[in-house]
Amino acid sequence: MKALIFPTSDELARYAAASFVTRAASAIDARGRFSVALSGGSTPRIIFRQLADEAFARRVNWGAVHIFWSDERCVPPDHPDSNFRLARESLLSPLGVAESNIHRIEGELPPAEAAARYDARLRAFFGDAPPSFDLIHLGLGEDGHTASLFPGTAALAETEPKVVANDAPQLGATRITFTAPLINAARAVEFFVTGSAKARILREVLTGDDPKYRYPSQMIRPRPGTLAWLVTADAATQLPPELIRHA
Ligand code: 6PG
Repeated sequence: MKALIFPTSDELARYAAASFVTRAASAIDARGRFSVALSGGSTPRIIFRQLADEAFARRVNWGAVHIFWSDERCVPPDHPDSNFRLARESLLSPLGVAESNIHRIEGELPPAEAAARYDARLRAFFGDAPPSFDLIHLGLGEDGHTASLFPGTAALAETEPKVVANDAPQLGATRITFTAPLINAARAVEFFVTGSAKARILREVLTGDDPKYRYPSQMIRPRPGTLAWLVTADAATQLPPELIRHA
């Protein structure tokens, strides 16, 4: 799996925004709507900023775009740690995306209830078909986690495409997260990795051939969907040349 390398995070973000525009147009043309699950953390902010820019935003039929999240913290929607709040502030409110197109994980509820309600929401949205998102954005944690699939946590053993509450002792918190099978059912998955602090884990994840998936992010292998790693140069410094493709 080669990583696509960008000199700066702005260039990565512009590429991600262009990918969103293209995938949205293709999905809406084929199926009348575009379903995307956003990631949390801090990296998405740079992508939301680009996507909210007129240069990209005007090329998206936002009325046919349905926004979900691949994970959420167990906090209210206005909490500083809320992944929803990040997207609302940086993307959804500036663009005036309709409430009916925004499918928030109810982090303010008891975790098991929030997970069950979101799982039901996915099934209502996708109907009888297995939930298959057109696009899922993911980040990579320094411990190799993605979404809220943390090393050593129960959600890693889930074999069904679903939404679960996942206790993460390393955080001292519970998170709501997509399982790996749900992520792997997507038509396209894009990882965004920036910053020198991620260089080691990125090398470990992309070079690791341990069939036992040493890191949760190694479990992300969409089929027949596509997988892309969008990486800034400062996060790619430890990658072997054969895993590098320059944007
Ligand atoms: C979250 C994210 C999490 C994130 C990684 C990387 O809710 O925090 O889903 O998986 O993507 O921790 O975060 P950064 O991109 O901010 O480094």
